[in-house]
Amino acid sequence: MERNIEKMLNRVSTAFIIIGTLIMLLMILQTPKTCISPEAPSKPHTHFPRSTCDTSPRKHLPLHKKNARLWSSNAWKTRVLSFSDYFLRLRDLGLIHNHTKALCLSAGAGHAPMAMERIGLGDVTGVELVDSGPVVRKADPHDLPFFDGVFDLAFDGNLGEDLFPGRVVEEMERTVRKGGVCVVAVEECGGEGVREVAGLFLRSRVVDVVNVTLEGLRKTSLVFKVGDFKT
Ligand SMILES: *[C@@H]1O[C@H](CO)[C@@H](O)[C@H](O)[C@H]1NC(C)=O
Ligand SMILES: *[C@@H]1O[C@H](CO)[C@@H](O)[C@H](O)[C@H]1NC(C)=O
Repeated sequence: MERNIEKMLNRVSTAFIIIGTLIMLLMILQTPKTCISPEAPSKPHTHFPRSTCDTSPRKHLPLHKKNARLWSSNAWKTRVLSFSDYFLRLRDLGLIHNHTKALCLSAGAGHAPMAMERIGLGDVTGVELVDSGPVVRKADPHDLPFFDGVFDLAFDGNLGEDLFPGRVVEEMERTVRKGGVCVVAVEECGGEGVREVAGLFLRSRVVDVVNVTLEGLRKTSLVFKVGDFKT
C-alpha cells in the first residue's frame, strides 16, 4: 500500500516537473511579444509629455538675433538715447571726439558704450563685473586689465554703486593718459557731495559739474582732466 502511494507521488512530481519545464520554455519563446516594438518613436520626448513641465527641447535663438530683439526694444533705445544726449553735450564742450579712445566702467548690458558708438566714437571698450553680451567684456573696475594711460577717456555712470569708489577712481586715473578725461555720474548732490567725489581724484582737476537726467534718474555729472595736479 505504502509502495503504491510512493509510486503515485513520484509520478505526480514528475508530471509537475514536466509541466513546469514546458511553461518555462513557453515563457522564454514568448517574451518578445511584451517588448517595445522597434517602430516606437525614436525621439519620444518630442511627443510626450505635453504638460506644463514639458521637456521637449526649446528653440534657442542665436545670440545675434537675441541681441537684435533686445536692441530694438523701446526701453533699450530710451536708455541709449539718454546716454547719447549726455555724451553729445560733452562733445559740444570739446571733451569727446570721434577719435577718443574710451573706456566705459559699470557698463551693465552696454547702453553707455553703445551710445558712445552711436555718436561716432570708433574705439569704445565697455567693462562690467559679469559677462553681459558682445559690447561689454568682463573685468573688475577695481583692478582693470589695461596698461597705464591707454585711454583718452574713462566713464563710470554709477560710481556711487562701486564697492570701493576710491579704488575705481585710482584705476580710472591710471588707465587714462595725461591730458585725458575721467567722467563720472553719481546720485544728484550739492556742494558737499561734489567735494567728496572730487576728493577721490588725486591726479585730476574738475573741469565740469552739472546735474543731468541719466536713464531717468537725477544725477550729478563730474568731469576731471587727468594730470599730476595734487601729487
Ligand atoms: C563723427 O562721427 C559721426 C558719426 O559717424 C559723423 O556723423 C561725424 O561727421 C563725425 N565727426 C567728425 C568731426 O568727424
Ligand atoms: C544739483 O542739484 C542739487 C540739489 O539736488 C543742488 O544742490 C546743486 O547745486 C545742483 N548742482 C548744480 C551744478 O546745479
